[in-house]
Amino acid sequence: MYPDQPEPRQRLFFALWPDAAVRAALAQSSQELLGKRVKRVPEANLHITLAFAGPVTAAVRQCLEQQAAGIRAAAFELTLERVGHWSRPRILWAGPLHTPPELWSLVGGLNSAFEACGLAREMRPWQAHVTLARKISRAPVTTAIEPIHWSISDFCLIESVSGPQGASYRIIASWKLEGE
Ligand code: 2AM
Repeated sequence: MYPDQPEPRQRLFFALWPDAAVRAALAQSSQELLGKRVKRVPEANLHITLAFAGPVTAAVRQCLEQQAAGIRAAAFELTLERVGHWSRPRILWAGPLHTPPELWSLVGGLNSAFEACGLAREMRPWQAHVTLARKISRAPVTTAIEPIHWSISDFCLIESVSGPQGASYRIIASWKLEGE
């Protein structure tokens, strides 16, 4: 008899994935704030996490995809216009001054999806942010950035794969938000 093999798992999270223009604008703001010498999050990795599931089995992934397909939330506009610093995780981030109600309702729908699939709810309060750099010990002097306008019409399920160069992200599926 062989011991049971552990079931394979994928590290998954739901996210808003910027288009090329928003991505480039974020990368530029990040470079202006931090300079070229600080290690910034690679442009291809910039995103807003909506709900982080962590390592899940194929059955849980299927459940999450089914639940996500049932979410009815409206498309919305987001303006990223401030930077913030959290000293505990030591990250520098960009985010909106105002989080639109449509975004709260999308995050709420995903929290319910997690519950329906037997995943623990995130206990920390959610805040819309794009992590620009990690291992940043001091807050920057400037807190405003040139506003970045982002029209959001879908949300994605992402797989995070860790490699020697750090995490890379792969879009597994995406769902349209409802238009006007
Ligand atoms: P962060 O950017 O604020 O660090 C992939 O790891 C994404 O999921 C990151 O954007 C990360 O947010 C977010 N995330 C949320 N909760 C996490 C957790 N418990 N462990 C790792 N990443 C988490």
